[in-house]
Amino acid sequence: MNVDRCIGEVKRDNNVVSRACRIPYFPLVVESIKGSTVRDIDGNEYIDLLCSAGSTNVGGANEKVKKSIIDQVNKYIHYTPGYLYNKPMIDLAERLIKITPGKFAKKVAFGLSGSDANDGAIKFARAYTGRSSIITFIGAYHGATYGSMSMSAITTKMRRKLGPFLPGVYSFPYPNCYRCIYGKKENCCNLECLRQIGIAFESYLPPEDVAAVVIEPIQGDAGIIVPPGKYMRKLRELCAQNGILFISEEVQQGFGRTGRWFGIENFDLIPDAVILGKSISNGMPLSAIVGREEMMQSLDPPAHIFTTAANPVCCASAVSTVDIIAEKGFLEHVNEIGNFAKNYLNHLKDEYTIIGDVRGIGLSIGVELVEDKISKEKNIEAALKICYRCYEKGVILISLNGNVLRIQPPLIITKDEMYRALKIIKSSIEDYLHGDIPDDVLDTIKGW
Ligand SMILES: Cc1ncc(COP(=O)(O)O)c(C=O)c1O
Repeated sequence: MNVDRCIGEVKRDNNVVSRACRIPYFPLVVESIKGSTVRDIDGNEYIDLLCSAGSTNVGGANEKVKKSIIDQVNKYIHYTPGYLYNKPMIDLAERLIKITPGKFAKKVAFGLSGSDANDGAIKFARAYTGRSSIITFIGAYHGATYGSMSMSAITTKMRRKLGPFLPGVYSFPYPNCYRCIYGKKENCCNLECLRQIGIAFESYLPPEDVAAVVIEPIQGDAGIIVPPGKYMRKLRELCAQNGILFISEEVQQGFGRTGRWFGIENFDLIPDAVILGKSISNGMPLSAIVGREEMMQSLDPPAHIFTTAANPVCCASAVSTVDIIAEKGFLEHVNEIGNFAKNYLNHLKDEYTIIGDVRGIGLSIGVELVEDKISKEKNIEAALKICYRCYEKGVILISLNGNVLRIQPPLIITKDEMYRALKIIKSSIEDYLHGDIPDDVLDTIKGW
């Protein structure tokens, strides 16, 4: 494989772009996208299992989305919703109110990134409840603005040199049954992790000071961790009992990723608000908070205005994205391909000692690599080398939290493409086990 032009561009990039802005995996400079295939500037093609970090769910070059963008650009590019109105924004807000869980009256506030939507959720929750504390979870990634970073607890690397963070944010253990910190098994535990919140309520955090619980329905960047339903239901109950808003952070798991519109629907729970980003506009810069009307009306203007938020081009793209996901059979396809991939990966798990766990819902799948199934020691080197070999063989695959393979392709991926990608993962695992992936790839691929 020749990647000379890519390497040349990466050198130019490194000369001018801050290293804080990228986690290095491989020197892939994107030239174009077709369906689930990414082409680099040297002409190499890759099946995409990353989907621009879950931000192009209906495909990075979807024809209908492209047309909606071009049609809107031909009318005008932007006029700020801070002062005037635009129709695509209103069309989108109506759709978001319809597709998000909960039949109650809602309102929408727009932004430009998942990060700012998380900040907004803090603002609305504080204003509405008159309380200041926010409960979040260890392993959470909510973004890179100060508010969203304050709610993130995934790696101290991203917090170094930056404190102090927002006060009043408390991070509790997320229920990770594969690595239960209480040494329990999922089917016979007493939700010791949830008990930690109860202990906090009794000892140092008065529940009447807590405005909101903000939770990812599947913890994404922590390694696609699916919480047990009983945990989510009890947490929801705890919120209701204490007048705490229950907010589902759907930036990564929303818009069909889990085979339902939103991740929280897999638990049959209705949140008071959802935080949306990434695939809301299929990769165009847009975010939203959709919540109970009374919560979303609790702030006075201009408390949540961004000049370039709800850009009509982005909103037009989002309207067509929503309409595509709403098409008959779309979510069924996600479930079908997701189940197919999980079955295949579970067979690999039986075959290889380095696969400790395969988990996920729909097309949000994590494969946790370990030294062996008993010690469960994280095998970060295997994850990085396998990702690199997949890249060399034509699959874009990255790792999460060190040792978890992230399988989040565009939701339009065909069964044949998924099968080809899975076979490449299998052969890359074999290459790793045979010692065929040189150590020097680790000079390039750094990972989370
Ligand atoms: C769950 C979750 N929330 C928030 C964000 C931040 O979104 P953005 O990068 O668009 O600000 C991300 C990004 O990876 C995410 O995965």
